[in-house]
Amino acid sequence: MIFAGIAAGGTGSRMGADIPKQFIELKGRPIIIRTAEKFLSQSRIEKIYLGVHNDWVGHTQELIERYIAAKERICVIKGGADRNSTVLKIINRITEDYGADDDDIILTHDAVRPFVTDKIINDNIEAALSGKPCTTAVKATDTILYSENGTEIESTLRRSCLYHAQTPQSFNIQAFVNAYSGLTDEQKASLTDACGVFNGAGIPVSIIEGDLSNIKITTPYDLKIAGALL
Ligand code: CTP
Repeated sequence: MIFAGIAAGGTGSRMGADIPKQFIELKGRPIIIRTAEKFLSQSRIEKIYLGVHNDWVGHTQELIERYIAAKERICVIKGGADRNSTVLKIINRITEDYGADDDDIILTHDAVRPFVTDKIINDNIEAALSGKPCTTAVKATDTILYSENGTEIESTLRRSCLYHAQTPQSFNIQAFVNAYSGLTDEQKASLTDACGVFNGAGIPVSIIEGDLSNIKITTPYDLKIAGALL
């Protein structure tokens, strides 16, 4: 089966709004609902798990009642202390609900990327079904500088090798569970994202071409861009 796991457990400190940014309305619809609808519109996806902050579980359920017709395809769970823990909790919940099936895959996605396209979702599904973990990314267009002290440049990185990571990141659930269980505590503590689990286990992660419009809404400026994109 194919599952989607939407990480929505953050509080949006950089946005500085009075509610977590995923609940802010964009042209009359909360961002988290717009994102969930992108996955709901794909009939191949069995169920969409939303991992939200403890304090926002009830509110999320109310939003689903209000906006979503196919409620049975959505499950709201409590997220974790950071994004990785939220993704882990979603994966654990899927294996509790459906058992461990070698063929099951998951697309993990940020709740605050409502502009993900059908093509990106389908390309992720095909890669994960073929057994390859994948991450969505776009080529860097700016030159990226490296500085440890924040005042002087140590190096200028080779742009042709640089990508901006987006989501979804998608993979076989059992392969993830096996790779994760083989990591040391130190490796687990330094994970940047779900694909880091595969990197840590020496399993290649392929790149799915993203889209410049697949922005992560992080700051008030991003909210303006999102409004313009809509
Ligand atoms: N996220 C999550 N669980 C957490 C923290 C973050 O599921 N404990 C999710 C966010 O809700 C978001 C995604 O991970 O959809 C990307 O994280 P980010 O943009 O950093 O969101 P926040 O942590 O909410 O923002 P900030 O860092 O500004 O506080």
